[in-house]
Amino acid sequence: MLPQEIIRKKRNGQALHEKEISFIISGITDGTFSENQLAAFAMAVYFQGMSLDECTILTECMMRSGRVLDWSDLDLNGPVVDKHSTGGVGDKVSLMLAPIIAACGIYNPMISGRGLGHTGGTLDKLESIPGYNTHPDNALFLRTVKDVGCAVIGQTADLAPADKIFYSVRDVTATIESVPLITASILSKKLAAGLDGLVVDVKTGNGAFADQLDMAEKIANSIFDVSNHFGVKTSALITDMNQPLGRTVGNALEVRETVDYLTGADRDPRLHEVVIALAAEMLAVAGLTKTIEQGVEKANEVSASGRGAEIFNRMVSALGGPADFIENYNQYLPQAPIVKPVPASKTGYITSIDTRSVGLTVVELGGGRKKVTDSIDHSVGLDTHVALGENVKAGQPLAEIHARTEEQLNAAIQTIQNAYIISESPPDPAVSIIDRINYK
Ligand code: URA
Repeated sequence: MLPQEIIRKKRNGQALHEKEISFIISGITDGTFSENQLAAFAMAVYFQGMSLDECTILTECMMRSGRVLDWSDLDLNGPVVDKHSTGGVGDKVSLMLAPIIAACGIYNPMISGRGLGHTGGTLDKLESIPGYNTHPDNALFLRTVKDVGCAVIGQTADLAPADKIFYSVRDVTATIESVPLITASILSKKLAAGLDGLVVDVKTGNGAFADQLDMAEKIANSIFDVSNHFGVKTSALITDMNQPLGRTVGNALEVRETVDYLTGADRDPRLHEVVIALAAEMLAVAGLTKTIEQGVEKANEVSASGRGAEIFNRMVSALGGPADFIENYNQYLPQAPIVKPVPASKTGYITSIDTRSVGLTVVELGGGRKKVTDSIDHSVGLDTHVALGENVKAGQPLAEIHARTEEQLNAAIQTIQNAYIISESPPDPAVSIIDRINYK
């Protein structure tokens, strides 16, 4: 088989056979399919798409390019379920959801990623906790999941390695936004984690990479179809990303908000709605509740009990962080030297927020990467004070910027003032959960 003939076939809009897809994926890992050929293949798929069968085969080949976890030896007394989010600004849901659903009896091995472009990454957030090991060895990872109920860690080198290479080529060749390639990329990693169930949170809006609802619907349906085909019970939610999720954006700030949420000290209502909705879907795919309403009730009860905070603390400690993190988190989390408010430029209603620009502000403050090798400043970011639809007075703080330098502070104040649009009339009420595709 010749790589160029397979690329030509896809370029001309023909469906590929299993052997051809498998040849490409093994070629990625053994180096016989060059990066140039991979880039051309990705562009051919971007324009010509893939059938459900092709996408399913691609997913399976990528999943089998590395190790597939098997939990059966561990004698777990509950189902193994995970959640995946396509990413957004201020999306710290994984940090609160993992311990809450663990407290409900689900085992959650959560393989998470780093910040990408304007969106934050769960691993970067967790690394603001001193000592937290995002890349434990396999034995520690499995032990933590068994003993604590959840472990949020980074992708290991042996989990879907073909995706790692393919993704890095797509990232620099404008081929990320392809529904079959996104589906195979996300699911190859998730299915390699040996799950019984999966819930996908597809974000849409001006802070998501699927900025149009139509694209989000296509991604959600595609993941739903392929994942259920593999026998992994899967549901998808489409949720709003037209404003930051929760109060804070920035690594340590988001961990602080997580602790406040889990202990009940401070719960942003929109964030709470998304956490509970995802928890209810996870309970349903896990078979632990019969209806979504029962799942909402159970998740609310557990979240009010504070058991999530206790489990979060045990996970942090098991993975190398402080044993008293929940009680003393302010001592442990880094704080930026400068904290200043962003005043509203006029009186009126917040009618739109350029969420992507809010995410990029955190990158400019040093809280995200401009290139993969950059190190990040975990302390910086912003604490928002107002949400879409709120009425503000001129001079009232829209947010507080946490910055390292005066220069970065002043640039951030300017960007945030431009990002928050203030008008005389209120906008339509914001909706957090836009659509659901439930496993039946
Ligand atoms: N997240 C992934 O893991 N892969 C994609 O292709 C897009 C988002």
